[in-house]
Amino acid sequence: MSIWTDQHQSQSLNQPIVAAAPGKVILFGEHAVVYNRPAIAVPVTDVSATATISPGEPGSGIWILAADLPAPDGKQGSHHYRLHDAPADDPLKASVELALDAFCQDEPIEADSPEPDVLVTITSTIPIARGMGSGAAVATAVVRAIGRYFGHNPQPGEISPLVYEVEKLHHGTPSGIDNTVVAYEQPVFFVRGTGITRLSVGAPLNLIIADTGVVSSTRRVVSDVRRRWSAETERYEGLFDEIGGLARLAKSAIERGNPIAVGRLMDENHELLMTLGVSSPELDKLAEAARMSGALGAKMSGAGWGGNMLALVEAERTLKVAGALRAAGAVSTIFSQIS
Ligand code: MEV
Repeated sequence: MSIWTDQHQSQSLNQPIVAAAPGKVILFGEHAVVYNRPAIAVPVTDVSATATISPGEPGSGIWILAADLPAPDGKQGSHHYRLHDAPADDPLKASVELALDAFCQDEPIEADSPEPDVLVTITSTIPIARGMGSGAAVATAVVRAIGRYFGHNPQPGEISPLVYEVEKLHHGTPSGIDNTVVAYEQPVFFVRGTGITRLSVGAPLNLIIADTGVVSSTRRVVSDVRRRWSAETERYEGLFDEIGGLARLAKSAIERGNPIAVGRLMDENHELLMTLGVSSPELDKLAEAARMSGALGAKMSGAGWGGNMLALVEAERTLKVAGALRAAGAVSTIFSQIS
């Protein structure tokens, strides 16, 4: 049982409800997963998004307060807005509306108000646009909190498809891996369009997540790969096959508890992502610094062109590798043990 799902709070409408969701990283298979190859992702509980639903004044409608996130109009300081005034493609608006549709159908709504009177407050410690699933985590926290506020206890299988709809606003054509790993809060072996396979981790994996400091748009990178795949389909299908093959080997190495094999496969996956054209000089430099300082393996994670690089380390080498990553330009390092 994770620290997140033990907050079973099915509450009356008058009490604030708090729900959280973790960040995530992709260990193997990003991009190829969009083309139906398997991938492996794990939750990162060291960072999280939190949604609090509190009762509003009668007739106020739904308000959103999201100081840590970009405002829907892009303006600074306008993170407090009425849901009704937000554009239809605002992911927070979509998260709230999808959750209300799913979980609030039978609630009495005030006669003079077309919507419930609630304040949705969102906070997040997940770096934005760095491949750590910030959008999926915020949407998961909102859906979970709204469900609980209206007397339900939404299960991962109910939350994940709603968050997938929100992910489409962020990324256009998401594979579904982010909403799955974040909603289920468990390591997953994921193949698009199939049910989830939970991954058992035979020996703890010590990860250092090193941020290049470069913001990256998943939508842009994924559509660039799509353009090149259309131009050279056979070549890219071959690369995706190779990446999918590594994800399969990694699944069994993780289950057997063989971090040395996992690290080697991470190095190979990084090489293929370089060939795919989604790495960057900053990511390559961090991966090299990790290996040179004794990491078992290193690779970029997420869409690429920026965002985070993952290093797999033996516990006793953590400080040394983290120091080397900082010296090589990482703006922050997060340590996370996956078990
Ligand atoms: C983004 O976290 C991972 C990608 O594979 C896109 C996706 O799976 O939707 C790049």
